[in-house]
Amino acid sequence: MLDKPDVTNGELLASAVAGLSAVPKTLEAKWFYDAEGSRLFEEITRLPEYYPTRAERAILEAETATLAATIPDGGALVELGSGASAKTRILLDAAPQLGAYVPVDISAEFLEETARALASDYPHVPVLPVVADFTSAVTLPRALVKMPKVAFFPGSTIGNLYAAAAVALLAGVRAWPGVEAFILGADLVKSPDVMISAYDDAAGVTAAFNLNLLARLDREIGANFDSAAFRHEARWNAAESRIEMHLVSLRDQTVEIGQTEIRFAKGESVHTENSRKYTAESITNMARSAG
Ligand code: AVJ
Repeated sequence: MLDKPDVTNGELLASAVAGLSAVPKTLEAKWFYDAEGSRLFEEITRLPEYYPTRAERAILEAETATLAATIPDGGALVELGSGASAKTRILLDAAPQLGAYVPVDISAEFLEETARALASDYPHVPVLPVVADFTSAVTLPRALVKMPKVAFFPGSTIGNLYAAAAVALLAGVRAWPGVEAFILGADLVKSPDVMISAYDDAAGVTAAFNLNLLARLDREIGANFDSAAFRHEARWNAAESRIEMHLVSLRDQTVEIGQTEIRFAKGESVHTENSRKYTAESITNMARSAG
């Protein structure tokens, strides 16, 4: 049913070794989303502190008719980073003219489950899941070639990308044959307290989400991280207008990944995610740069 296998361990290994050998240390945020990470993210969307999902749901509900009207008869809705496709159901419910729904996600296991549930809840809409990392070029199913398409990129996931990569992604989608609209959800700057709590919740779910990255490296590429030797930290970087997530080493320690030894000083951090916060102006400028 799925077009492509899940990401290979070789990719994960190369990316982790490169990121952890860099100064400062980094890990790419896309690796959060194994089955466990995807599940933890869905839990984050239900936290009292995590306002983006509720805010976006409210917008989708208020603007359903306008958004559904961007989808032409027989058109395909292509969602980038679809996860559980929870909010998408608002659009699917309001767009009976839909010719196909194409959820694109990096987590094969999670996507398969979601696609199965959607296919049974929306029997009149062909659901064509694509396992892909949308930060690289996405190969769309052949059935879509002749269909008009609307791209859907909600959740402010665009904020995980550096500015140049975000513009490249928008420009790439603009070059799809037959793309008629792009529905983009982006989070706006607000009080640092509100933003930091959203990424450092009282129940510790975001901490578990961040730390799962180390557990995943242990599971999939045989690293020997001790998750208990790191702590989660959320920081507001005002100069770059972004929330950053870090994993901070609680002691001097050495970790092995394959043949590579990585040394951590006590207090040293691994930068695991950027979540850019926008203004109406910065969104407009980004869209202009992408044409
Ligand atoms: C799904 C990538 C948009 O950046 O807000 C939530 C991921 N990270 N809590 C975000 C996330 C920490 C989320 N995105």
